[in-house]
Amino acid sequence: MIKTIATKPYGDQKPGTSGLRKKVPVFQQENYAQNFIQSIFDSLEDFAGKTLVIGGDGRYFNREVIQIAIKMAAANGFGKVMVGKGGILSTPAASNLIRKYKAFGGIILSASHNPGGPTEDFGIKYNIGNGGPAPEKITDAIYARSRVIDSYKIVDAPEIDLDRVTTLTLDGMTVEIIDPVADYAELMEELFDFPAIRNLFSLGFHMVFDAMSAVTGPYAKEIIERRLGASEGTVRNFTPLPDFGGHHPDPNLVHAKELYDEMMSGGDAPDFGAASDGDGDRNLIIGRGIFVTPSDSLAVLAANAQLAPGYSKGIAGIARSMPTSMAADKVAEKRGIGIYETPTGWKFFGNLLDAGKVTICGEESAGTGSDHVREKDGLWAVLLWLNILAVRGESVEDIVTQHWATYGRNYYSRHDYEGVDSDAANGLMATLRDKLPSLSGTKIGDLTVETADDFAYHDPVDQSVSKNQGIRVLFEGGSRVVFRLSGTGTSGATLRVYIERYEPDANRHNLETQAALADLIAAAETLADIRARTGRDAPTVIT
Ligand code: G6P
Ligand code: ZN
Repeated sequence: MIKTIATKPYGDQKPGTSGLRKKVPVFQQENYAQNFIQSIFDSLEDFAGKTLVIGGDGRYFNREVIQIAIKMAAANGFGKVMVGKGGILSTPAASNLIRKYKAFGGIILSASHNPGGPTEDFGIKYNIGNGGPAPEKITDAIYARSRVIDSYKIVDAPEIDLDRVTTLTLDGMTVEIIDPVADYAELMEELFDFPAIRNLFSLGFHMVFDAMSAVTGPYAKEIIERRLGASEGTVRNFTPLPDFGGHHPDPNLVHAKELYDEMMSGGDAPDFGAASDGDGDRNLIIGRGIFVTPSDSLAVLAANAQLAPGYSKGIAGIARSMPTSMAADKVAEKRGIGIYETPTGWKFFGNLLDAGKVTICGEESAGTGSDHVREKDGLWAVLLWLNILAVRGESVEDIVTQHWATYGRNYYSRHDYEGVDSDAANGLMATLRDKLPSLSGTKIGDLTVETADDFAYHDPVDQSVSKNQGIRVLFEGGSRVVFRLSGTGTSGATLRVYIERYEPDANRHNLETQAALADLIAAAETLADIRARTGRDAPTVIT
């Protein structure tokens, strides 16, 4: 039944920050997905007879590629595949399955928070045995293989019924169609105080969760409504749709604006609002009248994690990506635990988590997670917040303002200049880089530059070095401006300017964020000449 099919290589199958992401019509080209999947298998060793986890976020083309992946896994000698029913697995749930069942690895089909549909985005990503995204050593090998591939192996078999939980065999390989939610929900019950959260809901606590017609719908329904007893209707847009209902499944203030407006609507607003993205790894947290920035959320979660059973012994350390605000650093300092600053991208946390150096990680790009899996985890962040709210019995606003009073507030904003001409963006960065050696000690307005550098990361576990990860200019008093080009954009370049000001004085914790950062925003302009170089008067997006 195994067929070897001749194929021609494509030149563009280079995995990016998070696997191979292209428009659906690109993936629909003859053998395009097959080539990439075979290139993954050809880059791995010693998987004969072992288990592969397969699932995706349910977006357009998901089912087709799941069928192909199962049949190719059988032809390539895997002993078993575990596939989420309906082809559904959130990214953190897939990571959990790989770890729990000691699978060899997993194939996750997703383009995260990007739109889905016949002309929108699709993606294929390979995760290794620790449950995390494949490191560059492997993705480089996959790309190299994809450039010379001349055949792939597939089992010739009829369509597999993905919609029933069952076990069958396919040419000697076991195919287990599993409930995509059960193992993940069980893990969440181990980590969090479900009785306390149930009690909170029974006291009338009002929550809204927007699944954005993406993969977290079934997970949130089961966990938040069924197991935690939140009233029906708490979870909105809970049916995963192939085109996410035509929206960007990106939980931010732009794409989850309705939720934001509702949370800001005054005294009748829900107590707690949250959302997750296409594949379930990002999160948005909003209290009544207060949006919690991902950077603040990381710091608050790290400071209160011990209130949840899974972290009752305390946390070993915290890691954040470099552009993420330094709010978490204040927590680590006070607790005397490790704090690690990594380049942007979840994969950099893997070594620190595996080595037990950190327990909680987070990024300004709406990702938070812990050592329970090796991906960021949207629902995990929501449940940890709920656990903290249930135990402390205070509002989100009270918890956040008390946090600022204790640790100081890191005012924080990101200014994005999207679709900028690539040469102009590279020129801006190059000029900044050239200025770096002379910046220390210079004054810009009332600010004095303390240090400035192009961030390089020395991984303390495997000693690898990643250079050119963003330019940081640190001012006296703990304020910062960071410049970085996005690694995930598809057209032109996106300049991201991350602006942060540390304010220890609680009397000044109630300022409007952009106003609080005005002098730093002006300094960023002086430093990088943004307007002239990008031809833009203002950022495209401010978060
Ligand atoms: C993806 C990764 C994140 C990362 C983000 C950065 O979502 O999973 O780990 O923080 O990209 O995106 P950027 O566009 O800033 O490179
Ligand atoms: Zn995602």
